[in-house]
Amino acid sequence: MARITVVDRGGKEHLVDAKPGLKLMEILRELDYGVDAICGGLCSCATCHVFIDESWAGRLPKKQSDEQDLLTELSDYRPETSRLSCQVDFTDALDGLKLTIAPDA
Ligand code: FES
Repeated sequence: MARITVVDRGGKEHLVDAKPGLKLMEILRELDYGVDAICGGLCSCATCHVFIDESWAGRLPKKQSDEQDLLTELSDYRPETSRLSCQVDFTDALDGLKLTIAPDA
């Protein structure tokens, strides 16, 4: 089992077990302090928005245009580190990933 560090909206860090093969969102929505993921991963709600730690941001797969378009509509969008977690496949290569849950939109 891989692990990730999740920083909640209050700034508290949590070490979380993360199963490769899931979307990152599917891991985060199970947490009390995680994401809402209202659209269920259809890339239409942005309630799965997270900030990837800068040291990891360049190691994730590139954003597709629909993810990019939705992100740029958010007021707290940060080009280098913002991701929609429903669009990120969690793999063994991301073991140790650190992210912060974005504020409510
Ligand atoms: S869950 Fe809705 S955009 Fe990711």
